[in-house]
Amino acid sequence: KPAPMIDPFGRTIDYLRVSVTDRCDFRCVYCMAENMTFLPKKDLLSLEELDRLCSAFIAKGTRKLRLTGGEPLVRKEVMTLFRSLSRHLDSGALDELTLTTNGSQLKRHAADLAACGVRRINVSLDTLDADKFRTITRWGNLQDVLDGIDAALAAGIHVKINAVALKGVNEAEIEDLIIWAHGKGMDISFIEVMPLGDIEPLRLDQYLPLSVVRARLMDRWTLQESSYRTGGPARYVTVSETGGRVGFITPMTHNFCESCNRVRITCTGTLYMCLGQDDAADLRAPLRASEADDLLYSAIDQAISRKPKGHDFVIDRRTNRPSVTRHMSTTGG
Ligand code: GTP
Ligand code: 5AD
Ligand code: SF4
Repeated sequence: KPAPMIDPFGRTIDYLRVSVTDRCDFRCVYCMAENMTFLPKKDLLSLEELDRLCSAFIAKGTRKLRLTGGEPLVRKEVMTLFRSLSRHLDSGALDELTLTTNGSQLKRHAADLAACGVRRINVSLDTLDADKFRTITRWGNLQDVLDGIDAALAAGIHVKINAVALKGVNEAEIEDLIIWAHGKGMDISFIEVMPLGDIEPLRLDQYLPLSVVRARLMDRWTLQESSYRTGGPARYVTVSETGGRVGFITPMTHNFCESCNRVRITCTGTLYMCLGQDDAADLRAPLRASEADDLLYSAIDQAISRKPKGHDFVIDRRTNRPSVTRHMSTTGG
């Protein structure tokens, strides 16, 4: 086993999230502007290059790999990448290969994902109301996502639902979402909306602290703190009445950075050491400079050695600008 990568704050970095495309077939209002300009396709790393990058991280101690986007399942031939990466599961070098998806294309891919050793996936879904779903995603079809989730469950994949808590949008539906998810044997996590990207005014109004959500849930249900952890930032409770788990991802009200274990790569080979910071390292140049991985390894080591302590999501009240102007779809959540 390779020695794990350790950052300057003593944290083990063994979780890599890779955004395989900046494109998405939805335009969730908190994630993207309506008319996004996407990268020219020629700027993307090829699937072979993405594989090589992931494999370099695995050689350096990465144990958990999550493909994200944009929407990972809209990247052409993405199953080829999954199939190829699954060799690291077979060899025991990798503990988990997974993805975060909006579910729109999941029905078509569920069985193949399971065959590639994907055991557990996260599906983003903020509402069970078809009209509201269309409003949030700007044109998405709820039924496609529900069918995708059923296909994944039928393929034996564990599904976790991720819902962004949005004031005045889905806040009245949170309990219904929990009952629905738990009824299907799925965990569900709620996420506080973060000030990322240049789509600010609306999102400030939609921010709903999860402390409020938690208090409301406690009026109705008995919540027991759970020690269940997945390696992500969610902290879980078990709902006694349903027997299911609810996760809280609270970048705004509670800081989980002290146990951060992850870094992110974009589809152009930029390594971001923190979702909420701008500092980045270019891995495309060392990747393309040589067929040997030495340059890549030293660029990765160099980057990990300056991983920041954490994010600070602040909005400059004078200009109303968020501290991080790149969109979530660039860095992959
Ligand atoms: P598992 O724990 O494996 O289920 O996944 P995860 O929580 O790491 O991944 P997921 O894609 O479900 O992440 C959910 C959301 O949590 C992301 O989309 C982000 O909104 C948020 N998140 C994850 N990691 C970080 C992080 O390092 N910093 C911040 N600020 N938010 C994060
Ligand atoms: N704040 C919080 N979560 C966000 N997501 C996208 N943009 C934001 C944001 N600004 C969520 C999506 C999905 C995950 C990948 O990130 O809803 O669940
Ligand atoms: Fe697409 Fe996910 Fe962003 Fe929605 S949140 S636009 S589904 S990448």
